Amino acid sequence: MKKRKVKKKVWVVLALIIIVAFLIYGGKKAYDDYKYKQTNEYKLLEVGYSNTETKLLLEKLDKKKIEELINSEKNEDIINFFKEKYFILKNLEEYLAYKKENNALSYSEVVTIINVNRNNDYYKDDHEANTSLNYSMLVNKYYKLSADYEPDDLVTIKTDHSWGAYGENKIRKDVYDAFKDMWTSAKESNIQLMINSSYRPYSDQERVYNNYKDKNGETFADKIAARPGYSEHQTGLALDIFCTTNSSTKTFADSEAYTWLLANAHKFGFILRYPEDKENITGYAFESWHYRYVGKELAAKIYNEGITFDEYYAYYIEK
Ligand code: DAL
Ligand code: ZN
Repeated sequence: MKKRKVKKKVWVVLALIIIVAFLIYGGKKAYDDYKYKQTNEYKLLEVGYSNTETKLLLEKLDKKKIEELINSEKNEDIINFFKEKYFILKNLEEYLAYKKENNALSYSEVVTIINVNRNNDYYKDDHEANTSLNYSMLVNKYYKLSADYEPDDLVTIKTDHSWGAYGENKIRKDVYDAFKDMWTSAKESNIQLMINSSYRPYSDQERVYNNYKDKNGETFADKIAARPGYSEHQTGLALDIFCTTNSSTKTFADSEAYTWLLANAHKFGFILRYPEDKENITGYAFESWHYRYVGKELAAKIYNEGITFDEYYAYYIEK
């Protein structure tokens, strides 16, 4: 009799323990659910972002931006911009604003335009060119050199390699060495490369630019020549390269030498700086003769990715 009573008591205690355990578990779960619903993760998922998108947004964006996303409809533009190869986080707001105003442009076009500053007017928002970057410095319509900038390792180009009198054409030493290797290699394919313009000090560029401007007006001049201080020729890293049988800016693109340069220049550290159909990025009309020395490693990357130096600089150097 006594034994049975004890057994009953044990069962009651056990049942009570189980009930309390369930209550605790249930209560904790309800509390956890409540807490989770307060998180930004839950709120972003509720707006419609996928798990992966939510994770990405939480990892990359600050609290203020997340708040904004939580309080609006799903923003497909943000997600699409994140997917772009050359996406730069600090440019996100500019991408979004530009896309809104120019909806016909693709995400990739918007990323390029913003990365290379093309939403800003040329010559308005000047930056000093970072000459300490040496062979990877950028000089374009936004990045300028001071009037007195002159490389300290200029050497004279021989008349075997350039038109004009000996002493007229100068270039930085490593650029000349790279050019000579390229010249020798081209010669093996019966192409004799010839330089017709190399290092140009500020005063020379002023003359070149003003000449075009006086003859054809500013709009035309700006398409084909850099204003003084904004020319790569002042860096001592740019060469205008033709060949003995063709020195015409009009027809050089049809020459064998151009085809050869297009396929081989990067192997020697040079890139075609103002390619065809890239005027909106580089700021200049196609120049089949203007090559810029950046070193072999960079040249190979730029060549393989099929981008301009302006795009390369924005994404790989400035970012
Ligand atoms: N023709 C190129 C753009 C220069 O003047 O530097
Ligand atoms: Zn040039």
